[in-house]
Amino acid sequence: MRFHVLTLFPEMIDQGLHTSILGRAMERGYLTVETTNIRDFSTNKFHRVDDYPYGGGAGMVMEAEPVFRAYQTVEEKIRRKPRTIYLTPQGRVLNQTMVEELALEKDLVLLCGHYEGIDDRVLQEVVTDYISIGDYVLTGGELGAMVLIDAVSRFVPGVLSNEESSQFESLQDNLLEYPHYTRPEEWHGKKVPEVLLTGDHRKIDAWRHEASFERTKERRPDLLENAFLITCACDKTQSGTSEIHDLMNALTRYGKSLDLARKKIRRQKNRFGAKDLLILHLPMEPAPDAPVADRKEYTANFWGEETPLILILSGGEHLTQEQWREKSAEVESELCAHGFLTVALIRGIPRGEGLKRFSFALREQIYTGRWKNKKILASADAL
Ligand code: ADE
Repeated sequence: MRFHVLTLFPEMIDQGLHTSILGRAMERGYLTVETTNIRDFSTNKFHRVDDYPYGGGAGMVMEAEPVFRAYQTVEEKIRRKPRTIYLTPQGRVLNQTMVEELALEKDLVLLCGHYEGIDDRVLQEVVTDYISIGDYVLTGGELGAMVLIDAVSRFVPGVLSNEESSQFESLQDNLLEYPHYTRPEEWHGKKVPEVLLTGDHRKIDAWRHEASFERTKERRPDLLENAFLITCACDKTQSGTSEIHDLMNALTRYGKSLDLARKKIRRQKNRFGAKDLLILHLPMEPAPDAPVADRKEYTANFWGEETPLILILSGGEHLTQEQWREKSAEVESELCAHGFLTVALIRGIPRGEGLKRFSFALREQIYTGRWKNKKILASADAL
């Protein structure tokens, strides 16, 4: 991944990032961080890049032209319009989902402002995203750019070793990380929780989930408002099963799976509450080799209580857009009558890169609670 930082203080970026894990990743070629000094593009013989604000008031404003020229050198180099982030306290506050989504880019331009800010006209022309690293004001955007680069780099393949891997971590599931312990078994009279010494991974996972939950309740109860226990249900004899599980695993580390091919699962009462989330894959019509004759048999015993639902409907390729919409509305209203609320309705099974992007969109919807206002309607081909 290549970061391009437009700044008045390149040495700050260079000195701050060339150590530790990022330094190693740069040496190994997984990352590059190039700085462009905006001052080099000053149009003024004194190398000034700021001027008084129109309308008066305190402070200086960075001029549009030097910023634009600095940006253009990057644009010319990478030969396309890059995603360009302006670090500002007026932006969306950076979170883990945004970080992971940004890590999918090949190039990111980071624009750092100083003084009172940058002439708005150049921002309108080049900036694609306004991002803040928190609700406080820094003296410039460089520390924000460094924070963003550090957080995003962790998701660039090769940057972290296996042990450092970011596959599972704090804030996935909107839960804080459980406590960690290492040797000795007892320190200052405090013992490591017994379950961690058993080697029983099921029990250890259950303990960690509980400990994460308790820690979140104590330290960040606000996160729990949008934390869910995720279950995925699909007929494992049909294609798409592994993609549905990939999707669940992108959303949670504590997911449960129900196989609708099993009579026992279809017969038992499957109850879900408002703190559950169901990912359901159904065919429009059951396949000839499916264990049910009627699609409704798959979910006849599924009952929610305002339970958010991600509904993935496959098959029915022969249907027109209009026919598909009618049929899917039918399936949706059946499930709605059983107490489910749709977060997303997808035609076909998202795969590969589309699946990745879709999972980020979903995480954003779910973990911010935005799903209550806006349903995602998409076709897997378009994801
Ligand atoms: N520049 C100044 N304050 C900032 C903040 N909070 N986040 C990102 N960039 C900034």
